[in-house]
Amino acid sequence: MSDTIILEVARFNPEDGGEPSYQSYEVPLRPDWMVLDGLNHIKDQLDGSLAFRWSCRMGICGSCGMMVNGMPTLTCETLLMNYAPGPIRIAPLDHFPVVKDLVVDLDDFLAKLQKVRPWVVRKDDFKPAREFMQSPAQLEAFHQFSLCINCTLCYAACPVSGLDPNFIGPAAIALAHRYNLDSRDQGIEDRLDIVSQHEGIWDCTVVGECSVVCPKHVDPSLAIQQFKLTATKEWFKSFLLPRGKH
Ligand code: FES
Repeated sequence: MSDTIILEVARFNPEDGGEPSYQSYEVPLRPDWMVLDGLNHIKDQLDGSLAFRWSCRMGICGSCGMMVNGMPTLTCETLLMNYAPGPIRIAPLDHFPVVKDLVVDLDDFLAKLQKVRPWVVRKDDFKPAREFMQSPAQLEAFHQFSLCINCTLCYAACPVSGLDPNFIGPAAIALAHRYNLDSRDQGIEDRLDIVSQHEGIWDCTVVGECSVVCPKHVDPSLAIQQFKLTATKEWFKSFLLPRGKH
């Protein structure tokens, strides 16, 4: 097997007014190198103008997501060797505006995330120093949904996100669900108002690719379907009880 591999990397600089294109680079094919190592080799040794994001290099920060051979992928935890003999095509994440080369604009995603209030909401007289006990079973109820690293691979994999830019999307809904299931939280009504809109849970057509590509094995598709059940139950309850009493 060759000891090098070709990376075909998407290039785009809106300031040049040029069209997006692919540029090929030959990088060492080492058994322990990830796709991100190949990109860093290009940046350090071959072409310093290439733009891409990364930070932790250990699958935690969620910033190195890219399309690798058409699949949304965390490049810091995916071996170059998996694609030998190559070539490997690397592009920015689908369904996001491109800032430059492999860097995408996350402003819209971050606004959607904030909208669903992904934090513990208290309606009572919350004393920060108070301890809220939680049993292992109560933790288990939301634990898997708390593993999301906001890498946005699920948005790149979701056909609805591609068709409807207003769709709140898998990660934001999964995080809203995570807090709804948290025994310390009292914000479910606020989140239901936001996520029960058409651009929320009802926009999801249960393709399930979000759950397939998640590098942390979160199941956003399950979260959305569970959220649909909760919203339906709350809708029925709203006929029987005044708001805030159920
Ligand atoms: S660099 Fe942090 S997840 Fe890849």
